[in-house]
Amino acid sequence: MKASNWPKRAERVSKFIKRGDNVLDLGGNNGFFKETCQGKINKYCVVDMCPGLNPDYVVDFNTDPYPDIVIDNCVVVCVGLLEYINDPVRFLKEIRKYGEKLILTYLQIPFQPEWGRFHRYKYVDILKFLEESGWELKHIEPIINSLELIFICELTTKEGEKDGS
Ligand SMILES: C[S@@+](CC[C@H](N)C(=O)[O-])C[C@H]1O[C@@H](n2cnc3c(N)ncnc32)[C@H](O)[C@@H]1O
Repeated sequence: MKASNWPKRAERVSKFIKRGDNVLDLGGNNGFFKETCQGKINKYCVVDMCPGLNPDYVVDFNTDPYPDIVIDNCVVVCVGLLEYINDPVRFLKEIRKYGEKLILTYLQIPFQPEWGRFHRYKYVDILKFLEESGWELKHIEPIINSLELIFICELTTKEGEKDGS
């Protein structure tokens, strides 16, 4: 069984991008998502941990500070990344500063010993993480099959409103 198909997944995710959207692509690899969107994206910025992929920002979300990246009306795309993040709630809270809309995917497959710590959550966990971190789920659908889902989310509250600070 093929667990995931990157081009097919990007194509499915791209239908949630509207013409003229500004996109911040977290774990965006070499930025191939922009081409998949076939000219719909206005401003595009990639963050990835691998310098060799030549992203706009080299950041390891497990160890590095989250840079301040300011993009107006930004759609945050996080495809095939959450599986690699050690503390998903912290990550989801940190990325609230980047934009009000989040397109997230998660691959839920039975535990694979050779994949180590990856792919360890169930969808109910992801829903809980989103709620805990202040993202409201607006839509959910499978990508190729129900092993991998797309979560379309919006900020529940603006940063600082939730705790009154
Ligand atoms: C499975 S690929 C997904 C690539 C692409 N987003 C897509 O749509 O298929 C995971 C990407 O996340 C990056 N990545 C993995 N762990 C990361 C981390 N801790 N911080 C930043 N990027 C990470 C990898 O370098 C890789 O490019």
